[in-house]
Amino acid sequence: MTVSTTLSQTALLVELEPVVARNLDRHLTLAKEWFPHEYVPWSEGRTFDGPLGGEAWSPTDSTIPDVARTALIVNLLTEDNLPSYHHEIATLFGRDGAWGTWVHRWTAEEGRHGVAIRDYLTVTRAVDPVALERARMTHMSEGYTNAHGDEVLHSLAYVSFQELATRISHRNTGKATGDPACEALLARVAADENLHMVFYRNLLAAAFELAPSQAMRAVADVVADFQMPGSGIDGFARKSVAIALAGIYDLRQHRDEVLQPVLRQWDVFNVTGLNADGEAAREQLATQLDSLDRAASRFEEKRDARAARLALR
Ligand SMILES: [Fe+2]
Ligand SMILES: [Fe+2]
Repeated sequence: MTVSTTLSQTALLVELEPVVARNLDRHLTLAKEWFPHEYVPWSEGRTFDGPLGGEAWSPTDSTIPDVARTALIVNLLTEDNLPSYHHEIATLFGRDGAWGTWVHRWTAEEGRHGVAIRDYLTVTRAVDPVALERARMTHMSEGYTNAHGDEVLHSLAYVSFQELATRISHRNTGKATGDPACEALLARVAADENLHMVFYRNLLAAAFELAPSQAMRAVADVVADFQMPGSGIDGFARKSVAIALAGIYDLRQHRDEVLQPVLRQWDVFNVTGLNADGEAAREQLATQLDSLDRAASRFEEKRDARAARLALR
């Protein structure tokens, strides 16, 4: 049963192609068509200053909490970098056959997310549109580079986690706005991210059958150095702390709601047929999950202490 030969990147792509085709069919059956314009309260909009001579944006234009605004900006800028993501996956997965069909379909679906969120933010005046545009220019000018750009299984592991992370982040951001329209929009976007996660997770599950040690190595490496796709956003460290303090996306959620459910689906701790490196990778993964658990608990304690201090003021 032990698969000891190491499959080349090309061999992995070829071997996984039928799985891509099957999961693409499954995805197209499950994906529901939806329309960004239906989620935007257009009648709330007003013309801005500038060439049309309307009213400039003011922070009092919206009652959405500050941290929700921060999360909306991070989520939108993350979606905005789609051209870079497309470049990365088109380069790695190719633009032909089932892989290519998936690359283009996925890109088209992701394109809807940025459009919908931007329309919502502009119409409701939830964030400063000038600052937002400048941030978009800065962020997209940096581009995005996949940390494991020439490795198929590492990239599949990364996107499996990243799609779920994005789903949770959108979902909790929607709740944090206190605006039912925004919540409905972000729940809709989150449903797309969930289907993307399932697609990639199924591919990596097939890779665990095909090349268990390589798959385990990929998962361990990706969990060890996981960064959110928007980590290059200007001021990301400060923004992500605010987002974590608000419970929109924190280390506990990352470990327990993103990593663990996906790892459980792959049944990583019961995979058989591993070689020495596969076993070593699995041990590293277990160690990493333990240290994430401790770090998450430390953060939760600090957050609770901070909340108690603020309550006393
Ligand atoms: Fe998205
Ligand atoms: Fe997605």
